[in-house]
Amino acid sequence: MVMDHHPEHPDVTAEMWTRIDTILDEHSSVPGSLITALRLCQDTVGYLPPPLLDYIAEGMNLASSQVFGVATFYSLFSLKPKGRNIIKACTGTACYVKGIKEILNHIRNSYSISEGETMPDRRFTLEGVRCLGACGLAPVMVVNEDIHGNVDPKQVKGILEDYQ
Ligand code: FES
Repeated sequence: MVMDHHPEHPDVTAEMWTRIDTILDEHSSVPGSLITALRLCQDTVGYLPPPLLDYIAEGMNLASSQVFGVATFYSLFSLKPKGRNIIKACTGTACYVKGIKEILNHIRNSYSISEGETMPDRRFTLEGVRCLGACGLAPVMVVNEDIHGNVDPKQVKGILEDYQ
């Protein structure tokens, strides 16, 4: 079912709406496919703005409350825009002992973001994550796909300046 009008949203382009309509069309009659549809819509836009969740609810013939409930329950989904670059700072035990707090402080001082926040210009999103399984490299910070181990807090800015 393609709905006749799309809500206005600055982050959702006409091409994205076309793709979203296709996704909803393919999934609306498939029971239990809400999570898949949400994931595909998030891949399309980058996150799930609330007007899009309402639109998805309508397209999937579900209550908005149900769609919001699922989207807010799973950490996989984000209702807020993410940055172009995602910094994952490991807050597991080994990284904690080796000084990840100091690294987080440097990021906060340099870019004015704390865990869970995104810069207003969307350059960086900072996320605290559990053990990344690379404790031998503690403290560990992952930027996009790049793993940075044994990070010296004094190097943090130098590392991050490569990511625009
Ligand atoms: S605690 Fe950081 S990688 Fe294991």
